[in-house]
Amino acid sequence: MANVKFFGGSNMPLEMHKVRIIQKLNLPTIDRRLEAITEAGNNTFLLKNRDVFLDMLTDSGTNAMSDRQLAAMMTADDSYAGSETFFRLEAKLQDVFGMKHFLPAHQGRACESLVSQVLITEPDMIVPMNYHFTTAKAHISRMGARVEEIIIDEGLVAKSELNFKGNINPVTLQKMLKDNEGKIAFVRLEAGTNLIGGQPISMANIKEVSQICRVAGVWLVFDASLLADNLYFIKTKEEAYKNIEIKNIMREIGQLADVIYFSARKLGCARGGGICLNSDELMFKFRELIPLYEGFLTYGGMSVREMEALTVGLEETCDIDMIAQAPQFIGHMVDKFTALSIPVVTPAGGLGCHLNASEFLSHIPQERYTAGALAAALYIVSGVRGMERGTLSEQRNPDGSEPLAHMELVRLALPRRVFTLSQVEYVLDRVNWLYQNRELIGGLKFVEEPKILRFFFGRLAPDSDWQSKLVAKFKADFGDSL
Ligand code: F0G
Repeated sequence: MANVKFFGGSNMPLEMHKVRIIQKLNLPTIDRRLEAITEAGNNTFLLKNRDVFLDMLTDSGTNAMSDRQLAAMMTADDSYAGSETFFRLEAKLQDVFGMKHFLPAHQGRACESLVSQVLITEPDMIVPMNYHFTTAKAHISRMGARVEEIIIDEGLVAKSELNFKGNINPVTLQKMLKDNEGKIAFVRLEAGTNLIGGQPISMANIKEVSQICRVAGVWLVFDASLLADNLYFIKTKEEAYKNIEIKNIMREIGQLADVIYFSARKLGCARGGGICLNSDELMFKFRELIPLYEGFLTYGGMSVREMEALTVGLEETCDIDMIAQAPQFIGHMVDKFTALSIPVVTPAGGLGCHLNASEFLSHIPQERYTAGALAAALYIVSGVRGMERGTLSEQRNPDGSEPLAHMELVRLALPRRVFTLSQVEYVLDRVNWLYQNRELIGGLKFVEEPKILRFFFGRLAPDSDWQSKLVAKFKADFGDSL
């Protein structure tokens, strides 16, 4: 990582790239923003991009590609079977993870579907994991198995100083494997735990979990979708890895896991996904399903252009200068919010800066979707699109009751290399204003609630006229400013 100190002592992030293509943005008026969120059923997933100023919904498929990635796309070898593009990608993955097989899939959740279909062989099986991800849990539940979260206690504490809050509790894991012999489908370890603030796992924990799984004879499945940020934290926060090359850390993870799957919409800054593994036995099982659900074995539903971009993206993931920008920007946001006493998840993780809605809006109960309300309010006052990561993102229990999420977060994702520091400053300013006016914000209630992954398409309405009051206060304070 470039070692640059500022004379003024500032801790500002410094980008090690330049921007050579830009896309014009539009910031609609606050009246239009209120209309737009109403049309979207107060669900930021349903906003149209034309109404969004800074899209911080996700870093999935929205990262800026490098010049080398774009150039590689022109060399793609388009063919249904046997494409050179596939062999280049396969060789790159074998190189970075050191695993024998690579099976392509169209994106991360496709891998989750395949892993669940192959490894969940009986109903009532258990899948212990540090923390669930929405699509992973949906696929596991669909196969009749149960998710058990065994993250360390500190993982669910929003404000903390512990560096690796994504770690599994090894004692709980050991006990769970012992008490449920024959019932464990696999253990899932997610890099950069998505739903609880992008908190990383340590190499020490990966090693320990791997050891426990091997002794118990249980498969260890590693979700590497958010690995890039996690690698940055291992390299910068885990003493034993300070001087180890990123590529060697990836190799070591490859030796510790049995199956590695990833969303290439995140890892490698392209679009697609895939599964890496050593076992021939498992490979044959996965291989039967790929042509059924994804595509032929040499593309798996991906475009060859994206596959070329992914090959270069994986190579660039091994370069700390190429992966440092997002965690450093997130660190900057978290530091500034903390200085303003605005509640955020600490320490800063990967993926995005996470506002702690439970504390921000302590007057709104979870049953009124605290984080969903904050995401809607933030859009109204700024045109910034964040994502609810709380009770709305949970699915109802089989008996119809509502599981309240461990955390109510609004994620402000930092797509890699997309936003500038002044845009980040704008977000800080508007969130600060919203925090000063937080008592004006009310809750939400469902108007239309889908059964599965309701946060994608669900429509909600405010539980009072709080949104027009918020707009009136904004106009009183900002006059004719957008
Ligand atoms: N695993 C993790 C940890 C993820 O963050 C995601 C996607 C997936 C699996 C599924 O991959 O989208 O390619 O099918 N996360 C996105 C997000 C959707 O916005 O955080 P996918």
